[in-house]
Amino acid sequence: MNEIDLIRLLPEIVEKSRIQANKIINGNNSKFNIERINDINQEENRNLLYKSDNIHAMKDLLSKGYGSKIDLIYIDPPFYSKADYIHRIEVTNDNEKKGIETFGYTDTWKDGIKEYLEMLTVRLILMKELLSEKGSIYIHLDYRTVHYVKIITDCIFGGDNFLNEIIWAYKSGGTSNKYFSRKHDNILVYTKTKDYIFNPQKEKSYNRGFKPYRFKNVKEYEDEVGWYTLVNLKDVWQINMVGRTSKERVGYRTQKPENLLERIILSSSNEESIVADFFGGSGTTAIVAQKNNRRWISCDMGHISAGIMRKRLGQTNKEPYTILNNHDFLWEDRLIYELDKEINHDTAIYNFRFKEYNVDLSKIDLNKKNRSNLEHVIKSNSIALIDYIGLGYFENKNELNIQFEGLRSQDRLIIDNDIELEVSSTKELVLRVVDVFGQEYLQRV
Ligand SMILES: C[S@@+](CC[C@H](N)C(=O)[O-])C[C@H]1O[C@@H](n2cnc3c(N)ncnc32)[C@H](O)[C@@H]1O
Repeated sequence: MNEIDLIRLLPEIVEKSRIQANKIINGNNSKFNIERINDINQEENRNLLYKSDNIHAMKDLLSKGYGSKIDLIYIDPPFYSKADYIHRIEVTNDNEKKGIETFGYTDTWKDGIKEYLEMLTVRLILMKELLSEKGSIYIHLDYRTVHYVKIITDCIFGGDNFLNEIIWAYKSGGTSNKYFSRKHDNILVYTKTKDYIFNPQKEKSYNRGFKPYRFKNVKEYEDEVGWYTLVNLKDVWQINMVGRTSKERVGYRTQKPENLLERIILSSSNEESIVADFFGGSGTTAIVAQKNNRRWISCDMGHISAGIMRKRLGQTNKEPYTILNNHDFLWEDRLIYELDKEINHDTAIYNFRFKEYNVDLSKIDLNKKNRSNLEHVIKSNSIALIDYIGLGYFENKNELNIQFEGLRSQDRLIIDNDIELEVSSTKELVLRVVDVFGQEYLQRV
């Protein structure tokens, strides 16, 4: 399709998407299985992680009364890059680090940009329904589609409610001799109304010559570069990407830096606001929201992404959250262990010794080299493929309550040998096993 045809098509895409969004709002709900994590007081729905297509998640939220309740939505959807994204897992085997690369998520579109824009437009319409009257939405894109999406979002949110286009500039490897190296992304910001949350953030502005001006009533500061004042943030943000050696790095190819999300969250939400990200990826928005005392909603349809989010959340301060999954629970005894169990009134002490993990290779997308690396690990240390262990019990058929979490850190599962749980002895305990490929299983203990 040529550009003129595409521009002509934009109003049609918006109209069709409005009809589709209405159908979704009035249609049937998806059924979700529920997993409560660290939720001892059964604090209903404080933070939510949907493991599904975000269209089902948004429909579910609207039917649960979240319409006009979300103060901030940040989305970082696929950019129409026409590429598949690889996820890299590090595993130590015989003291040697092995990288295993597998499929992460796809950004390829059979029917081209029209299909991409249709996908995004209907979702943006649903997001508007969820935004509170004081709410804002940040839409993270790049040069490939930002100009088309700007026209669509002007139609959805109203050109008058367009607040900013933020340029996120970064350094990263790769340059070109044929064009200027592309080192920025574009973030479109809209508010739902004119009465929106906005907490101006400050940035350093270095004095000319890095020397003090000593103007009256102007506060000046000094750091290792020189003298500066603090000014309100401008719309060009220079923030480093998550680099190879960064402590934040989780191996998710399109992981965004916490600093970027922190600016957005502090600017456009307050403590206890609900902050949502419907293309959650590695969970950066949820993590930063949690660290800054916001409630959060995240969603991703990829297995790897959901697995990473579980682990990252387990490593952050342990706020309760609920996973809503529109797949059935899968019962398979893949983890082999020995167990000693001591019951003391209402408390039971469990001592697990994990022996072996029978990873299911049939659903994992691996090339020859990665398969061979993986086979090595399976032979010598299959437990290194476990990313997350949960221990809990069923409240009812569709509701699992996880009260203990063990996480893989760096490249091995860290778990105290003794796990103490205060659980009535009548409850049947289950193990939640998640491997590095995001495959999830339940086993009876
Ligand atoms: C660019 S990544 C987001 C990265 C994220 N900002 C981070 O910091 O890790 C986009 C994500 O959107 C997810 N995704 C794409 N289409 C989706 C859909 N319809 N519903 C839910 N998730 C989707 C992909 O699986 C991918 O993880």
